[in-house]
Amino acid sequence: MISRNHLVFFLILSFNLTLQTSMASSSSSERVTFHFSSLSLQNLTLLGDSYLRNGVVGLTRETGVPSSSSGTFIYNTPITFLDRTSNSTASFATRFTFSVNNANQLSSSGDGITFFLSPENQTLGSPGGYLGLVNSSQLTKNKFIAIEFDTRLDLHFNDPNDNHVGLDVNSLNSIKTADCSSIGVDLKSGHLITAWIDYWNDGKNLKVFLSESSKKPIYPILDIDIDLSQFLQEIMYLGFSASTEGSTETHLIHNWSFTSFGIRHSKPRISNPHNVTDNTVSNAKNPVIEVPVSANHDKHRKKIGLVIGVLGPVFFCSVLIVFGYISVKKWRESKTDMNIQAELLTGPKQFSYKELKAATNGFHSSRIIGHGAFGSVYKAVLGSGTVAAVKRSKHSHEGKTEFLAELSIIACLRHKNLVPLQGWCVEKGELLLVYEYMPYGSIDKVLYQESGHLGFLKWNHRYNIAIGLASVLSYLHQECEQQVIHRDIKASNVMLDANFNPRLGDFGLARIMDHDKSPVSTLTAGTMGYLAPEYLQYGKATDKTDVFSYGVVVLEVCCGRRPIEREQEGHKMVNLVDWVWELHSKGAICDAVDKRLNNEFELDDVRKLLLVGLSCANPDSEMRPSMRRVLQILNNESDEIMVPKMKPTLSFSHSLPLSIEDIIVSSEHDDEPVIRID
Ligand SMILES: *[C@@H]1O[C@H](CO)[C@@H](O)[C@H](O)[C@H]1NC(C)=O
Ligand SMILES: *[C@@H]1O[C@H](CO)[C@@H](O)[C@H](O)[C@H]1NC(C)=O
Ligand SMILES: *[C@@H]1O[C@H](CO)[C@@H](O)[C@H](O)[C@H]1NC(C)=O
Ligand SMILES: *[C@@H]1O[C@H](CO)[C@@H](O)[C@H](O)[C@H]1NC(C)=O
Ligand SMILES: *[C@@H]1O[C@H](CO)[C@@H](O)[C@H](O)[C@H]1NC(C)=O
Ligand SMILES: *[C@@H]1O[C@H](CO)[C@@H](O)[C@H](O)[C@H]1NC(C)=O
Repeated sequence: MISRNHLVFFLILSFNLTLQTSMASSSSSERVTFHFSSLSLQNLTLLGDSYLRNGVVGLTRETGVPSSSSGTFIYNTPITFLDRTSNSTASFATRFTFSVNNANQLSSSGDGITFFLSPENQTLGSPGGYLGLVNSSQLTKNKFIAIEFDTRLDLHFNDPNDNHVGLDVNSLNSIKTADCSSIGVDLKSGHLITAWIDYWNDGKNLKVFLSESSKKPIYPILDIDIDLSQFLQEIMYLGFSASTEGSTETHLIHNWSFTSFGIRHSKPRISNPHNVTDNTVSNAKNPVIEVPVSANHDKHRKKIGLVIGVLGPVFFCSVLIVFGYISVKKWRESKTDMNIQAELLTGPKQFSYKELKAATNGFHSSRIIGHGAFGSVYKAVLGSGTVAAVKRSKHSHEGKTEFLAELSIIACLRHKNLVPLQGWCVEKGELLLVYEYMPYGSIDKVLYQESGHLGFLKWNHRYNIAIGLASVLSYLHQECEQQVIHRDIKASNVMLDANFNPRLGDFGLARIMDHDKSPVSTLTAGTMGYLAPEYLQYGKATDKTDVFSYGVVVLEVCCGRRPIEREQEGHKMVNLVDWVWELHSKGAICDAVDKRLNNEFELDDVRKLLLVGLSCANPDSEMRPSMRRVLQILNNESDEIMVPKMKPTLSFSHSLPLSIEDIIVSSEHDDEPVIRID
């Protein structure tokens, strides 16, 4: 039985799905998109030795003898990347196909191609190792952000080899490089190579993908956490450059697409859902108006707003159902429809059921690596040999709703501490989500493993987990256009990636919640021990209930103890928060630290982290800090919070529906005591 709320919610999610396929941030008021299936002189300026032939730009001189040459071409229209009044920076995604050929490969090679962003529309540099980007007589003259596809080992610029990609900012000494041979690509093979470059300003992350096929690979060759906003000017020109020096290499660009989005204007946001204006700032507060209509559907949008305003909820529902149907249909169609934007952006991809079935050995039980609120998680080995985690839904409507919730929410979120969603599959009445595989699993597995083949978590890893989690929660609570309450933060939902960075997963319980709205009643509960008292009492999740759960996880990570543990002797259950608070009362808070750490830590850091944990796990929600504040404290940018010596006691107007003791005792055979508030 699905409640009306559920249904509406489901439909809104469907809308979001459509939105997410195009990965359009709802705040993107300014979106620039262009696509050259073949290049033309109409919109491009050719500089240096570049030339156009049959819709293909050659960047360097094409001569039979070894030559030195440099050339660029620049898109005539500048692109806005920064809005100073609202201090917002654009994200962008670009894809292009190029080829590099060397007639006389044995003698010499060089030098390579770059894609660049520059504040100037006349950027041209010198031949040779300067890649047509840097002027050899004035090394700092040209400013740029560039991705180089370098075919020559130039020790002068610390190149790793003669077949690499790198990110360059104002200098050809790359910030980071990657070897193309690692993915079997030889830049100067003469083959058509397609590159995708995606920069997400919200996630402060740049990814470069490279492939000899026109299908975007799952894994980037270059993945850099970098804030480009400090280098981006208000307007930038886009272009390509290349150079040769004594080589016969040709550098061709065959086609090119580009999209930028995410610049917000500083105009006040509309808060009245009925006040639909033609303001270009799209209003994320009302998901109904957020129906995935593009700018040229503005009239449509107005009508919807009007109808909803005038007619009652019955009509509202029918409109939603119709739109839900259309949206889902559109969403499905858009997969086949070669929507450039959808393909361009690092959005999750669609997998076929067959593919996933094969990848999980027919969903064999030996492949199960976990269970979630919605179903089982399988380890999958995809055709390309990459390992992924596949979540498979239960068949119930309940599971489906949660599944869609997870997809729509996680698909639009970008943060380095989230488990990345790689794709989905909706077939045979099943919903499957494909995630990046986290080799170490969840932190509880690592924390409580008996004979660790990994060794256990060192202090700096633990501190790093606390910071990473604070960072992603601060993003979800305060930095997203629509506030996201996770609702189920617990150690088993925090994964570790290959570098021991925390990745928050399992958004099955999350609901998109508009800012400034009162918390919505929840229908599903998280796990006992991580739940804030007011959540148990009223069943309402807020950012403050997430903060509580975060506090418990932090204490757990510091102490290496489960949130509720049976006393070693006797049968009493010990609550971790109470236990640490008691030590704090005695002035011995640092005694709580995991003994297995063998004193290998800074005592001040331990104290700080434990106090942060306690202040977050304060029973009084008003006293809990925001996640942003926590992040500042952990980064030493803010003073610590005073934690009262005695744990504050709360009195609710009426008693809890069940006593906590009852719940724990009745579920004592389970690994994790779970409570359902329905
Ligand atoms: C780009 O050009 C190459 C070579 O002509 C072609 O194989 C590829 O399909 C093109 N891609 C797009 C999106 O036009
Ligand atoms: C190039 O310019 C023409 C005319 O100004 C315009 O119609 C076309 O859309 C432009 N193409 C691109 C890819 O910007
Ligand atoms: C703009 O935002 C950046 C962080 O994204 C910050 O470092 C900078 O100080 C801000 N500038 C202004 C003028 O607010
Ligand atoms: C370069 O930009 C300037 C304005 O900054 C403009 O006047 C000029 O025409 C542009 N040149 C080309 C070749 O587009
Ligand atoms: C480098 O700068 C000098 C001085 O501004 C200029 O004369 C020269 O043409 C530039 N070289 C290139 C390749 O643009
Ligand atoms: C609608 O928005 C306009 C400004 O955009 C404002 O002046 C007006 O008061 C708003 N109306 C309502 C009903 O909020």
